[in-house]
Amino acid sequence: MTRLVLAPMEGLVDWRVRQLLSATGGFDLCVTEFIRVSQNLFPAHVFHRYCPELLNSGKTLSGFPVLVQLMGHDPDLMGENAAFAASLGAPGIDINFGCPSKTVNKHEAGASLLKCPDNLYRIVSAVRRAVPDNIPVSAKIRLGFADKDLFLDNARAVEAAGAQHLTVHARTKVEGYKPPAHWEYLARIREAISISMTGNGEIWDLADYQKCRDISGCDSFMLGRGAVAAPDLASRIKVFESGSHLPKECWADVLSMLLSYCDLMAEDGASENHQAGRIKQWMALIRKSHAQGSTCFDEIKRIRAIDELRAKLRHDMTLPENQKQDVPIAAQ
Ligand SMILES: Cc1cc2nc3c(=O)[nH]c(=O)nc-3n(C[C@H](O)[C@H](O)[C@H](O)COP(=O)(O)O)c2cc1C
Repeated sequence: MTRLVLAPMEGLVDWRVRQLLSATGGFDLCVTEFIRVSQNLFPAHVFHRYCPELLNSGKTLSGFPVLVQLMGHDPDLMGENAAFAASLGAPGIDINFGCPSKTVNKHEAGASLLKCPDNLYRIVSAVRRAVPDNIPVSAKIRLGFADKDLFLDNARAVEAAGAQHLTVHARTKVEGYKPPAHWEYLARIREAISISMTGNGEIWDLADYQKCRDISGCDSFMLGRGAVAAPDLASRIKVFESGSHLPKECWADVLSMLLSYCDLMAEDGASENHQAGRIKQWMALIRKSHAQGSTCFDEIKRIRAIDELRAKLRHDMTLPENQKQDVPIAAQ
């Protein structure tokens, strides 16, 4: 049975996006944006801000668990924060060893820790020791920092430290987010460790999914930008795996989701600027999966007033041509 995880994406996938995407039915698990642990034990309100789902037994409204992701270099501090997150109801703790940010890496956190497998071992062990046995601990790594020389050593260090699960973003830090993702390395890691593993990187459509599945041999996948660009991607993968076919969502469905996102932001008191910025950011990614996204992005990019932006999305939703099943970009 294929397992799909919605990727943590700082500044892009917040609790509202998790709520909307997990309601499509394709995902099994979500992960919060990273919480940067550098000096303190955070108070509860910080964890609740990143993960309001903690107030709902650690689950999205549609019932899918949300792991709390921590990023830092100090094993004891990471352990303390992990234990507190678990006491607040986190269904699992994920540790970020993939962040490429220069500032983060300068402070020996995120992907820079991949330069020495012992870093991973010390941090994962400390978190594992600090968190109750029934709370799974997982780690997310890249294939390396500048090169891939340590990819197996890093994966083995995570396993040896007692993590229950490993997610691998199949690129190095230096490769950033540029294609390709090296799915063939996922197969080599899978064979070298015995804990369960999730493959990640560059799955934008059903064809990428099939290729990644065949090359990596994984049965668990994390979908990042592709899932935001095509909100129905996870459900289409699940339906495909059940032997059936789900047509691509129509443009009106995408617009409807964006309007729901506006509603959630407004209910929460987000400023008009913030709302408009987030909608444009999301639309910028949607352009990669939906032909109408490019035109729509050009039409909305200069709109500042959220009411005008909403009216435009609402108007486009009612157009008959936007209610037809969409045609994938590649086919046009
Ligand atoms: C804007 C952005 C923010 C991200 N933030 C996080 C994060 O907070 N934690 C994390 O583990 N990965 C983060 N990532 C990496 C993604 O989770 C994922 O590993 C990466 O985008 C590769 O998957 P994709 O090719 O399907 O997008 C981020 C990626 C992007 C593009």
